[in-house]
Order: sequence, then C-alpha cells, then structure tokens
Amino acid sequence: MRTYAFHIRLKRDGEWCDAVAGGIWWNPGASSGNGSGEHRYPIKVIQRVLNKPGGTAQFIMRPVMGRFLCLGEEKSMKRMLSGIKPTGQLHLGNYIGALSKFVSYQDEYEMIAFIANLHCITVPQDPEELQRNLRDCVALYLACGLDPKKSTIFLQTDVKEHAQLGYIMCCHTYMGELNRMTQFKDKQAHGEKNLSGGLYTYPALMAADILIYDPDYVPVGEDQKQHVELTRDVAIRMNNRYGNLFKVPEPLIPKVGARVMSLSDPSKKMSKSDATNKGCIYLLDDLKTARKKVMSAKTDSLNQIKFDPENQPGVANLMQILSSLSDNRPMADIEAEFAGKGYGDLKRAVADKVCAELEMIQGRYNEIIASSMIEDVLKEGAEKARAMAQPKLANIQRAIGMEII
Ligand code: TYM
Repeated sequence: MRTYAFHIRLKRDGEWCDAVAGGIWWNPGASSGNGSGEHRYPIKVIQRVLNKPGGTAQFIMRPVMGRFLCLGEEKSMKRMLSGIKPTGQLHLGNYIGALSKFVSYQDEYEMIAFIANLHCITVPQDPEELQRNLRDCVALYLACGLDPKKSTIFLQTDVKEHAQLGYIMCCHTYMGELNRMTQFKDKQAHGEKNLSGGLYTYPALMAADILIYDPDYVPVGEDQKQHVELTRDVAIRMNNRYGNLFKVPEPLIPKVGARVMSLSDPSKKMSKSDATNKGCIYLLDDLKTARKKVMSAKTDSLNQIKFDPENQPGVANLMQILSSLSDNRPMADIEAEFAGKGYGDLKRAVADKVCAELEMIQGRYNEIIASSMIEDVLKEGAEKARAMAQPKLANIQRAIGMEII
C-alpha cells in the first residue's frame, strides 16, 4: 500500500471534473505503462480521495508531471472558507471587502462560500424579507462571479453540523472572550435593549462554521478579523486538550478595501444598518440612486486629492473604492491622475466605476433570480459541504469522548 498524489478526472452526473487528489492507493501496479489509463474503481475510493458523494463513478488517473509523486512532494490546493450574513441587502462593502475576493481566489484555492442564515436570526427578522434576502444573496454570489463548479456554495442550515459544532464551540469559549467581541459590545454601548443570547454567542458559531472545514485561510473584511482570531484561540485550546483536532486558519484581510466607510459619514463603516440609507450603496440599488449617493458623498474643505485616511477620511474612502474596483490601482497613481482637479471629478470617476460594476452584476442577477439555478446550486453545494462536515463532526465528538458507538 502506498500514498500517492495524482491528477484525477471524475465523472459525476454525466460531467467530468478535474482535480489533483491524494490518497492511499492500495494497488499501485494496477496502472498501465507510465501510469495513465482509464480505470474503474469503487466509489469508496473516490469518496476517500475527493470527498464527493454519489453513485458509481469512473475516473482517469494521470501521472503528475510524467510520473506518480508521493503526497509529500505534491502541493495540494489550499482551502478557503468564508460567509456572509444577509440580514439585509448585500452592499458595496461586502462586495469589495469579501465577495469580490472570494471570486478572485476560487481559481487558486478550494473555495467554500456559504450563506450564514443562522447568524441572521441573532437579530429580529421579518420572515418574508429574510427569505428574499437569502435568495438575493445566493443570486448575488453567482452574479458576482462565484462559479459553483469551482466553489462550494450552500446555506448554513442545510448542513446541520454547523449548529451542533457551534454548541460544542460555545462550551470551549470563555465568557471573558465573548465579552471582548466589539460587535456585541458596540450594540450594548449604544443602549440597544433585548439583545439575544444568539448575538452574544455568535462568534462561537462562527468558529464552528470555519473549523468544521479545516480551511487554511478565511478571507474577510477588517471587522471580522477579531472573530477569526477568536476562532484560532479556540482551535489551539481544543488542539491542546484533545490532540490535533483542527487546522488553525489564518484571516486574509485585503490590503485595500478591508473597511469601506459610509459615504455620508466616513467615520463609520459602510453597513446594512445605515439608518439614513445615504451612506450605503447596495448591490441592487438602481444606477441613478447609486450615482447620487456617490455624488453626495461627504468630503472636506481641503480641496486636495491625497490618500490621507486620518485627515481626509471621505476622500480616502472614495479613493479606496476606486482603487479596489480597478485591480488595486496604487493610490499614488490616483493622486497623480487627479492632481489639480476637484472633488467633483473624483466623485464622477468613482460613480462611473461603481455603476459599471453594478450594471454588470445586476444584469446577471436578473437572469439568475428568474431561473432555477439557486435551488440547484444550493442542493449540490449542501451535498458537498455535508460530505466534509459530517465525518469531521463525528471525529470531534469521538475525540471529546461524546460518542458511545
Ligand atoms: P457580514 O455579513 O457582516 O459581512 C460579510 C463580509 O463582508 C465584510 N464587510 C466589509 N468589508 C469591507 N468594508 C465594509 N464596510 C464591510 N462590511 C462588511 C465582512 O468583513 C465580511 O467578510 N460573521 C460574519 C459572517 C460569517 C462568517 C463565518 C464569515 C459567519 N460565519 C465564517 C467568515 C467565516 C458576518 O457577519 O459578516
């Protein structure tokens, strides 16, 4: 019996998919000549190497770079996981800080992108509106370019293991840690009444969302960094207590656009809970509204286009939006382009970029929302996610001593 890494083509539901897989190959001699060839193997092998459920399957095995390589020599694809909580419509901050990054990573990484609907109900929701927001969120994932063939896209509640591991994580998270989480603290400080227990413990559920898939990286905006750090602390604590249960993931925060600020009050983050509705551009805003919001963005009276977030937060925010929507164009470039020009020119350039992006996204969104794609994508994504989460939860419970059989 030997361990190999190999290119694999798996035929499932009539479609071929490519992957580099690794696993225990009990009969290396079964391959012909230099190792290529077409073979039939029982599905159990496929499940073990690729984590894909399904009936019988056929795959072609090819040597990696002309020969079989041992697993240790083969670099496998790193895994990434992230999610969005659609308590309202997705906005430009979500897109720039998170969603657009998921899309650009999906070619290089194994991307798992879910819709965090358990997190939505930590604050009161109108059922009809919530359902609409969830559908819109899936449609926007796809419209922004997430490809279900490359990424695993699913609804959190379709994989029950999240909630169960969430409880286990809660039991391994200290109250002192939860007390330090800024999101809960902020709401309390603003005197919000009747905050739910779910809102208080939600970072523990977020730790479960992440750790159940053993990702290498968690791409998020800056406001979520604290939660990923808590996740790391809990993972290390549990690894020390029970043996190596979890991979300890790294947060991946974009260099530009990690904190898109409100257009009407650049001291605050752009957020779904913008009461005035003027500072937040929603991905489904009509283009006229979006343009108006940019054109009325708060700036200052210094009349110079410099990237200085401390002294010119409004201008810096417009510049970071422009930069992130132009492949992270350097700020010095933008400063040079707008030297001697006014804020109106900068705003027009930002509005043009934002509107072009929204127009593209909305065009695809309109097609997707009218099709059956959402249900199909979620069904397939949930199957793939369950195949990873179920054995992982069973292992964790066994390690903790919770299982009898
Ligand atoms: P949520 O829904 O608040 O935000 C989703 C993602 O968008 C980023 N983001 C921003 N980035 C830049 N500028 C902004 N103004 C801005 N606003 C939001 C967030 O940082 C985030 O990356 N708890 C999470 C959802 C979640 C999750 C997870 C994320 C649940 N489980 C596991 C990662 C891994 C949340 O409420 O994100």
